[in-house]
Amino acid sequence: MITAQQKQVIDATLPLVEANAVNITSCFYPLMFERYPQVLEFFNQTNQQKGTQRQALANAVVAYAKHLDDLGGISDTVRLITQKHCSLGILPEHYPIVGECLLAAIAEVLSDVISDDILAAWGAAYGQLAEILIGVEEEVYQSNQLRSGGWKGAKGFKVIEKRPESDEITTFVLKPIDQNGPIDYTPGQYITLVQSLNDQVLRRNYSLSDAPGKETLQISVKREEGGLLSNFLHNEVNVGSGLMITAPCGDFTLHQSAKPLVLLTAGVGITPALSMLNAALDDHYIEGRDIHFIHCARNSSSHGFAKQVIQASLAHQQVSHTFIYSHPSKDDLDGLTGHADDFGFLTARHFEKHLKQMVDVELYVLGPKPFMQNALQLAADYGIPENQTHFEFFGPLEALNIERKITEAA
Ligand SMILES: Cc1cc2nc3c(=O)[nH]c(=O)nc-3n(C[C@H](O)[C@H](O)[C@H](O)COP(=O)(O)OP(=O)(O)OC[C@H]3O[C@@H](n4cnc5c(N)ncnc54)[C@H](O)[C@@H]3O)c2cc1C
Ligand code: HEM
Repeated sequence: MITAQQKQVIDATLPLVEANAVNITSCFYPLMFERYPQVLEFFNQTNQQKGTQRQALANAVVAYAKHLDDLGGISDTVRLITQKHCSLGILPEHYPIVGECLLAAIAEVLSDVISDDILAAWGAAYGQLAEILIGVEEEVYQSNQLRSGGWKGAKGFKVIEKRPESDEITTFVLKPIDQNGPIDYTPGQYITLVQSLNDQVLRRNYSLSDAPGKETLQISVKREEGGLLSNFLHNEVNVGSGLMITAPCGDFTLHQSAKPLVLLTAGVGITPALSMLNAALDDHYIEGRDIHFIHCARNSSSHGFAKQVIQASLAHQQVSHTFIYSHPSKDDLDGLTGHADDFGFLTARHFEKHLKQMVDVELYVLGPKPFMQNALQLAADYGIPENQTHFEFFGPLEALNIERKITEAA
């Protein structure tokens, strides 16, 4: 419990901690991996090297310290973190490790000004946040276990189908080794694949790319140049291979709503949108709800799932689709290959043409960061409400600079 005095200390030192937050988290990770090498395997070392995880942790700690009186203000952040933690298998016993190393990093980076009182106040704040996260994570683990086909920890699956979707995306259909029966999850959720490779354990998230309720799970993986797990999957994993997978998690999920649904994606960001599309076509989720599927690909070679989306449009009157190629081949331009409806990048014109003045929609956006920056800014300019705009990163949350016009009250 944070005392009133400790809260004052936190408020007074917050500007200093905020200004040094990235230095603190940069000091924290190497220190923790040296003192507690057993937690190294939970962390994606690519995110460590790119610095994205460091920034995400720093932002979360600062956001929490700013909202000590109003923890509801960080509920979205808590949901994002706890879903990610549960997917990776983070447990209560890991929290003292992070707490000890975070405080040691604060003491080291702020050594000129730090006192026992300051450290004790930040220690109490960490303890309170840890308690909140542990509590929510326990609930998530329990409800994931209670769902149809649910489980906790990494469980064995067998690949029963491997299917190329484009030059760079391959789908893997996975069946649990120990059970039959429908597996429940919310469309848009992801699993973590846990794989030993070259003396290290890798954990990578993959969104489920089909509707829930089947006896199998489906992931679709883009081959990343120089990427460890994606190349292993493309090159070494075949029908009959075993994979270890954690239960579906994630908060970028399809909300039940009657509002038109706009699924706006680029590249392999299409995967959760496919799950949402397939689920939304199920009467359980919608009846007569308009669905606009807008997808941006480089060209026909990299464009996956085109036929599946076209078939959904043909079979369901309420579904429309648009494909936009940014780097078309000559054959794409001549209409000999691919399914492009337009060429270039996503612009305001596409919103106007396909949404026809509709702004009261539920919008889901996923793709590479520059695409998300552009798409979310266009959506804001077009007038789609912020609370009806949902997005996810295929990595730690990164800052986007979206400017929203302030509308004057009538
Ligand atoms: C919620 C979520 C859902 C996801 N869903 C999907 C999905 O449906 N399909 C999918 O394909 N992916 C998805 N991803 C991404 C996926 O988890 C992996 O990040 C991706 O497959 C790459 O993993 P890898 O091991 O192949 O690459 P890594 O080895 O992690 O490398 C990734 C890239 O970074 C480069 N790199 C490595 N180190 C550095 C460095 N120090 N500096 C600069 N560049 C570096 C590599 O060359 C490579 O291009 C998702 C991620 C998240 C967080
Ligand atoms: C109060 C304590 C903690 C806070 C505030 C916190 C915060 C965060 C945040 C903000 C993210 C990024 C979420 C995203 O954008 O995807 C994250 C991811 C993660 N956290 Fe925590 N965390 C805490 C405790 C822990 C503990 C105890 C562990 C276990 C050792 C842990 C391990 C991880 C891992 C492995 C990831 C994913 C990293 C990656 O993608 O490389 N965290 N956490």
